[in-house]
Parts: sequence; structure tokens; C-alpha cells
Amino acid sequence: MSKTELAEGVYWVGAIDWNIRNFHGYSTHVGTTYNAYLVVDEKVALIDTVKAPFYRELKARVEQLVPFADIDYVVSNHVEMDHSGSLPMVMQAAKNARLITLEKFGENGLSKTFHSKWPTIAVKEGSELKLGKRTLTFIPTPMLHWPDSMCTYLAEDRILFSMDAFGQHLATSKRFDDEVGLDIIMPQAAKYYANILMPFGDLIVKAVEKLGSIDIDMIAPSHGMIWRSHLSDILKAYTSWGQGDTVKKALVIYDTMWGSTEKMALALAEGIAGEGIEVKVYNLTHSDHSDIIREVLDARAVLVGSPTLNNGMFPTVAQFLCYLRGLKPRGKIGAAFGSHGWAGGGVKAVQQELEAAGIELMDSGLAFKFVPDADELQKCADFGRIVAQAIEKGGG
Ligand code: FEO
Repeated sequence: MSKTELAEGVYWVGAIDWNIRNFHGYSTHVGTTYNAYLVVDEKVALIDTVKAPFYRELKARVEQLVPFADIDYVVSNHVEMDHSGSLPMVMQAAKNARLITLEKFGENGLSKTFHSKWPTIAVKEGSELKLGKRTLTFIPTPMLHWPDSMCTYLAEDRILFSMDAFGQHLATSKRFDDEVGLDIIMPQAAKYYANILMPFGDLIVKAVEKLGSIDIDMIAPSHGMIWRSHLSDILKAYTSWGQGDTVKKALVIYDTMWGSTEKMALALAEGIAGEGIEVKVYNLTHSDHSDIIREVLDARAVLVGSPTLNNGMFPTVAQFLCYLRGLKPRGKIGAAFGSHGWAGGGVKAVQQELEAAGIELMDSGLAFKFVPDADELQKCADFGRIVAQAIEKGGG
């Protein structure tokens, strides 16, 4: 088993989940890692654990360095079970260890999750823990993305253990950004941000500003690669995503029963592309929601189409819009479209959901009966051109 050293006495001791393909509904096409770190000084601190089925991998990595019973502190930066799942085994094996968690939310979260009474030290903003030559400082980052979330800073080595922030669901045999390359990492970082952190844009911008006042050489997140060569790239990207910056791109997202709404989708896309604006088209039966959300992150326009089913939306469209609404996308324009047989209702329902998601509606919606004819498809293409012109006019 190879050892990964971030700095002298600071090690990665996490686990690689090569085969996970669904992380609570988020598609993880290239697996993930659960990063845990060990700081070996006069006292030994384990920073986070791993998902429960990976405890043996964590233990083996730790025991290459120190006996497990020598761990003095176990820092829980975040209660979610991909990081805390091994705590019952860890606290049993590390018999002398005390658990470090954020006061109130961390304490309550761990207590209500594990129903155990481990010896605990509750920390708050600026609390310090001396390990010997090194000191850990705790930085609460509430709602990024749970109320218990915090970062741990190792000042002497200028390492920020950033928990989920700046992470990526990416399994590789490498541990550092410069060993893999930005072209591989950034798409995964963007997808992670879009699906996990997008609702918290304002907090992200403030958190990145706060981190700007700290001397950081390395950001060690809880998933994926450790940032040591491209810190400015990921910090800049987080600021841009947090602000809701967009590019000149439109998405046409739809489902279809008998091909009519699909005809409208393709005509809209033709109209947009005809004006030289990038457009991507997704049929919700065949496309993964979390992949589409990554595209929503920086798209300027989001057009959503649904056939009418029982006076409402098609179920796949309703499911997607429910997910979108919770993620609170910023800075988007959009519209609804779709085909219906007699009474309609699908387009109106989509409009309501788009508005609830914070998307600025451009139109009262394109709704046509049964199969759209050539004139109606022309109206779709014309509307696509209007969308493209609005994108061009409004900038990215
Ligand atoms: Fe990776 Fe919010 O847990």
C-alpha cells in the first residue's frame, strides 16, 4: 500500500471508491474518494474518516504510519456519513481518542446519527488544538453545505482541510491536482459544485474571500484530488460559480410522449444554433439529472419542455424541475414549451416551476396541440433565435 505525504508528518489516509456510480442520486461516472488525513506530531490527529464500508482501508493506511490506538484526536469536519460513517469503528479502535466537532450543530448531528457518547471537544470559530510543533485551527463554514460543516487549518504547513468544499467525485490512483491535470479535474469540480453547493453561492463568495486572508499552500478536500498547484484556478472558479456567472450557452431540456415535444425541442435548438450560440439538448429519459445540472451551472438560458399528462407535467420533467428548484440556479433566463392533446396544463406547470427556481421567464410559453406543423415548428425556431439574441445581448 503506497503512502501519500502532503508535508512532513501529514498524510492522506483515505479510501478510493472506484466503483460507485450513484452517490445519493448524483451520478459518479468516475467513482470518488473519501479523503481522510493523519497529522503525526507529539499528538496524532486523524482528520475525518471514510464511508463505513471503507473502514478497513482507512485503518490499513493509518497503521502503516502509527498504531491505531496512538490516535489522540479525531476531527469530524462534517457529519454526513461519507465522512463520519467509520466513526463507530474508529472511536472503538482509537481507545484514547477524543472527538473534535463543531459546537452545537456538529455535536447534535453526531449525537443524532450515532447515538453514542464519545469523549468530545466542541470547537468554534478560531478554536485551536496544539499537537506539538503544529496547531490545528478550526474554521466553521456553516451551510457549506451542512450546518455542522467546518474546515481545519494547519498553519505550520499552510494546509487547509476544506471538507466537501473544492472537492470532486473522481477516483484515480493519483492524489494531487498536478498529477492528473485540470482538464480532468475541473469538469468534476464543476459538477460537484453544481449539484452540492449551488444553492449557497453567496456563502461561497464570502468563504473564498475569508480564505483569501489565510496563507494556504494546499487545499485538501474530502473528495478527489488535493490542490497544490492550481489553487488560484479553483478559488477563481468558486468565486465565479458563487456569483452565478454564465457563458453564452442555452440548454433545451425536455421529455416527449409521441415525439411532438421533441420536434419542438429540436426546432428551438436549431433556432438558437442558427444565431451562433452554443446549445445543448437533453431528453430527460436518456440523460442524467446531475450531468444536466453541471451544464445549468454556467448556462444563460434554460428552456424546459414537457408534454401534458393528466393536465400536468410529464413525471421525468417534474422530477428534474423539483431537483432544479432546490439548487436555486442564479442568473438564468428561460421558457417552457410542449405539446398537448386537448386541455393542456403541462407548459403552465413547467412555467410555475421555472419561476419557483428563480429563472426569469422570457415568454408565456410555447404550447401546441397534438403534432406541431411546419408553421408551429417555425415559431419554435423563431423563438430559439429570440433566445439566442437575448443571450448575445445580455452577455455571458
Ligand atoms: Fe462528502 Fe457532504 O459529504
